[in-house]
Amino acid sequence: MCGIIGRVGRDNAVPYILKGLECLEYRGYDSAGVAVFDEKGIIASSKTVGRLAGLREAAEKDKLNGFVGIGHTRWATHGGPSEDNAHPHFSHDRKFAIVHNGIIENSNELADTELEGVGYNSETDTEKVVHLLSKYYNGNVVETISKVISLLKGSYALGILCTDYPDTIFSTAMSSPMVAAKTADCGFICSDAGAISAYASEYYPVKNGEICVLNDKKIEFYGNDGQPIEKAAVKIEVGELTADKQGYEHYMMLEMLQQPNAVRDTILPLIKDNAICLGGVDITDDYIKNELREVVIVACGSAYHAGVVGKSLIESMGSIRASAEIASEFRYVDPLIDEHTLAVFISQSGETADTLAALRLAKQKGAKVLSIVNVSGSAIANESDNVIYTKAGREVAVATTKAYSAQLVALYALAIRLAKGNGKISSEEEKRMTHELAALPHKIQMTLDRNIEKAEIYAEQFANATDIYFIGRRLDYATALEASLKMKEISYIHSESYAAGELKHGTLSLIDPGVPVVALAADGEIFGKTYSNICEVMARGAEMLVVTTDKNKELIAEFENTFIVPDTLPQFTVSLQIVPLQLLSYYTAKKKGCDIDKPKNLAKSVTVE
Ligand code: F6R
Repeated sequence: MCGIIGRVGRDNAVPYILKGLECLEYRGYDSAGVAVFDEKGIIASSKTVGRLAGLREAAEKDKLNGFVGIGHTRWATHGGPSEDNAHPHFSHDRKFAIVHNGIIENSNELADTELEGVGYNSETDTEKVVHLLSKYYNGNVVETISKVISLLKGSYALGILCTDYPDTIFSTAMSSPMVAAKTADCGFICSDAGAISAYASEYYPVKNGEICVLNDKKIEFYGNDGQPIEKAAVKIEVGELTADKQGYEHYMMLEMLQQPNAVRDTILPLIKDNAICLGGVDITDDYIKNELREVVIVACGSAYHAGVVGKSLIESMGSIRASAEIASEFRYVDPLIDEHTLAVFISQSGETADTLAALRLAKQKGAKVLSIVNVSGSAIANESDNVIYTKAGREVAVATTKAYSAQLVALYALAIRLAKGNGKISSEEEKRMTHELAALPHKIQMTLDRNIEKAEIYAEQFANATDIYFIGRRLDYATALEASLKMKEISYIHSESYAAGELKHGTLSLIDPGVPVVALAADGEIFGKTYSNICEVMARGAEMLVVTTDKNKELIAEFENTFIVPDTLPQFTVSLQIVPLQLLSYYTAKKKGCDIDKPKNLAKSVTVE
C-alpha cells in the first residue's frame, strides 16, 4: 500500500508528482505529501490529510516549486491519518526527506537501540528510517543507505532526498515494488511503472537491496554492498492507468460493464480446437496422472473467493483433492505440501504481500507453482514458474469486479485441463464445456442488461438495512461469499454469508422481521434443500431476494424480488449469479452516498502483511 513517485528534471517537478500521485491513489488515500528542493536547495514540503485534491491546494498555497522532488500517497499503518503522520518525513536537521511504502517491522526495537534519545514528530515507522540516515550519514548517501537498510527488517520502498545532492533522488526497495526510469532530460522513481507510462517507455525494477541514484543526466544502480551494478531495462506496457471513467460516475460501474470483455479476453486465448490449452504452463497429462496428488489454491479476499470456486470444480470435475486457503493463514500453519502439490496463487494486482509470501513458502517446500495474475511484470508473476494471465485490463475501483470474473474463467479452464488430464472428462465433454465458456461473455452481457434496473430498484430497500445475509449451498455458497464482501466493502452495511444449511446452527437467531436475506439458488440439483432454508428465514420475517437461472425460475415464481440469470453449465453459474449482486452492492452504496471507488480504510493493492 502507499504510492511513491519522484521526479528529477529541468522544470517544476510538482505537477508531474501530483499527476503521478493521482494514478497511484489506488494504493492508499489516507493522506498525501510532496517535497522538493527549492531554489536555495532547502527541502520544502506540502502535506494534507485525505485525498489529493487537498494536496493540490496545499502545494499551490505553499507555492511549492522545484526541479527535483518526491511525493507520497498513504495507506495508514503506523499512526492514524494525520498531517504529522503524512509523508515525506524529515531528519531533525532537515538534511534528509523520505517517502516510504511498506512496514519496518523492527521500528520499535530500532527506536530503543539505535535511536535512543531521539524525539519524533510522528507515530510512523518511516520516521525511524530517516533518523537512521541522519545518524549514519558520512557524506556518501549510497554507503549510508547501505548501512541503514542492513538494520531494517520488513518491507520497504524508499524515495530519499539529501540536501548535499539537490539534483538527485535516491531510492531502494525490499519486497515492495519500486521502478526507476530515465528519459533524455528527466528521470522518475515510482511504485508502479503504469503511473509514469505517459513520460517513459522503459524502466528498471529496483530489486531487493538495490540502490538507485537518479539525476537529470544519469541513472546508476548499486548492490547492497555499495558496488555499482548493470541492469537491463524493461519496456513499459502502454498503461491504461490514466484512462478516465468514460462518462460513468464511478470506475466500478465502468468495470462491471467491462466484464464481458474481461472474460472474453481471458478465456479465448485458453481455448484451442475445442480444448483447453494453457499455453506455456507446464502441466502435462503425465504430471497430472502420475505426479500430482493435490491442488492448493491460495489467495486473499475476492481472489480467495474465486479460489473457493476453483477448489470445488477441481474436485468435482477432476477427482483431484483440492483446497482453497487464505494466504495470510496458509503461510503460518506449516502447510502439508510437497513436490506432489500444485500450488495455485490468485491475485489481481500480483503484489499482495501475503499471497507473495505464501508463494515463496510453497516454492521452498518444492510445490509446483502456478499463478493467475492480472498485472504482467508484477512480483507474483515474476516469481511464479507458471502464469495464466487474466486479461481484465487495469482495474481502478478498489472493489474488484471484472478481475474476479476473469479469475473465475481462468480457474474453469484449469479445472477442465486437470479433469481431462486425469481422464475424468472426455474430449466430447471438454468440447461442450469450451463452447459454453466461449458463450459466457455474451451471457454476462445478458445478465447485466436484464438486471441493472432491478438492482437499482432493490437497492432502495437494501440501503436502509443494518444487516444483510447471503445464503447458498455448494457453488451458490461460493457466490454468497463474494456477494457479501462486495456489499459490506462499499456500502458499509454489515453483511454475512452462510452455507444455507448452517443457518439453523446459530445464525437463525439473527433473523428478525424485515432483515434482507439474499438466497443464491441456481443449483438445481439441491434446490429443494436451499428452498427449505429460504422457508426457514421467511418464517422469521426475512425479506427475500432470490437469485436463480432461467431453467429454475418457475421454482421461485412465488417471490417478488428476484434476479434471473441465463442458463449455463452448473459449473459456471457463479460467473452469472455474481453480476446482479455486484450491481446491487453498487446501487446500495450509491444510495447511501458512499465513496464507491475508494471505500474507507481500504486500498487496491495490499502490500503489507
Ligand atoms: C475485494 C478485493 C480484495 C482483493 C484482495 C486480493 O473487492 O478487491 O478482497 O481481492 O485484496 O487482492 P489481489 O487480487 O490483488 O491479490
